[in-house]
Amino acid sequence: MKKATMIMDRDYTIGRVDPRIYGSFIEHLGRAVYGGIYEPDHPTADENGFRQDVIDMVRRLNVPVTRYPGGNFVSGFNWEDSIGPRSQRPRRLDLAWSTTETNEVGLHEFVEWARKANTDVMYAVNLGSRGPDAARNVVEYANHPSGSYWSDLRIQNGAKDPFGIKLWCLGNEMDGPWQICSKTAYEYGRTACEAAKMMKWVDPSIELVACGSSGYDMPTFGAWEYEMLDQCYDEIDYVSLHRYYGNRTNNTPDFLARNMDLDGFIKTVVSLCDAVRGKKHSKKQINLSFDEWNVWYHSNEQDKEVVKMGKWGRALPLLEDVYNFEDALLVGAMLITFLKNADRVKIACLAQLVNVIAPIMTRNGGGVWAQTTYWPLMQASMYGRGTALRPIINSPVYDCTDYEKVPLVDAAATMADDGSVTIFAVNRDMQEDVELDCDLRAFGELKIQEHIVLHHDDVKAVNTEANPDNVVPAAGKGGVIDGGKMSIVLPALSWNVIRLSK
Ligand code: AHR
Repeated sequence: MKKATMIMDRDYTIGRVDPRIYGSFIEHLGRAVYGGIYEPDHPTADENGFRQDVIDMVRRLNVPVTRYPGGNFVSGFNWEDSIGPRSQRPRRLDLAWSTTETNEVGLHEFVEWARKANTDVMYAVNLGSRGPDAARNVVEYANHPSGSYWSDLRIQNGAKDPFGIKLWCLGNEMDGPWQICSKTAYEYGRTACEAAKMMKWVDPSIELVACGSSGYDMPTFGAWEYEMLDQCYDEIDYVSLHRYYGNRTNNTPDFLARNMDLDGFIKTVVSLCDAVRGKKHSKKQINLSFDEWNVWYHSNEQDKEVVKMGKWGRALPLLEDVYNFEDALLVGAMLITFLKNADRVKIACLAQLVNVIAPIMTRNGGGVWAQTTYWPLMQASMYGRGTALRPIINSPVYDCTDYEKVPLVDAAATMADDGSVTIFAVNRDMQEDVELDCDLRAFGELKIQEHIVLHHDDVKAVNTEANPDNVVPAAGKGGVIDGGKMSIVLPALSWNVIRLSK
């Protein structure tokens, strides 16, 4: 059997895991809000029209933070449309997705939903068609206690206590030509700087995410980060990164190696942040908010038809990727990469949460079910807390079309405050199991508490409403620990969670 080795020590650490790396995203897009989290006629709807079955699934997924309300949507959004009596809220054309936004769900409703779903709100302001003035007003509305125009209006609208939103995005993908009112790096950097100043003057406790380039392969990438940061470095806290992958050539070994690209992307943005820090002789470190990441390609062709047929419709079935088993493996591998970069990646949002490129799917009037990708996120969020360790991994490698020397086994490990250790490992070998030998002597007596495996013989296997348990985690075969050395078998093509406790 092929073998991989992993050496860890409790003193070899990367950094604390910020739980916000297990975040997600709800955009006013497709059926994410209407038909996703909100469906007043649904049998499980609560008094606010929120689907209780969806809330239960989100709570189980354990997402500490949820980005809202966009995405591309936010760059044409008037936040004031989303407050006050529902009957008086305007219907607006959403130019980002060629649909109609009814504003039935707005700021108050989303804050209430987030409370029920046990997640904090990460709120994006519009720096496309709007600007710094609207941005500081929404901070005042949401977070100022009382005694000013906007805070008193919030109270009048039924929320006596401030919402206390701590994390704010300064626009979305502002270098993308598809973005409403896209900008040059200088234009955006200046606008972000002035918006950030005012937003923090209103509430100095907030943290701000500035838009990095919308993509690693954008012509603007790199120069954008440098110029934008040069303009707003002192005012902001994080730079955003977005990345989606697809298996368009149906080449699984290639697809499963995509988190190597992700790692390169993260390290390059870290370098850009630190280059600007050097130029400015600054003591401040800018960290990363990977606030859109996922697999996204299955629905691309179908969406062209949906938009053609349904232009200006409401809650169209857009971006409804049906995820298969290999997608879950890549999602797991991407989570491993975030853990390996835990010193700089402090926020990450799986895009998105319900129906729209999402781990949770619903049918209008019908059921809710977990896609394959639900499981690695849920398990990482549940067990991947505490300190990210810095293991040394030696694995057999393979070459594929886009990458050379891809390790068959990729893994990360976390140590919780009670001394228990969790290993997350992907075996990318299409045919063979790999034995993982792990040196655990530095951790004292550990036993294997649980070995959980996600595997399916068919990489294209999916979960559906009729067959929701087709691709689900199961107990693995476990392994042995002898003299501080663990040996465990990672089945061919599998995501593994190995929980070790005292
Ligand atoms: O998540 C879907 C879309 O992808 C978002 O609206 C946008 O920011 C990105 O291009």
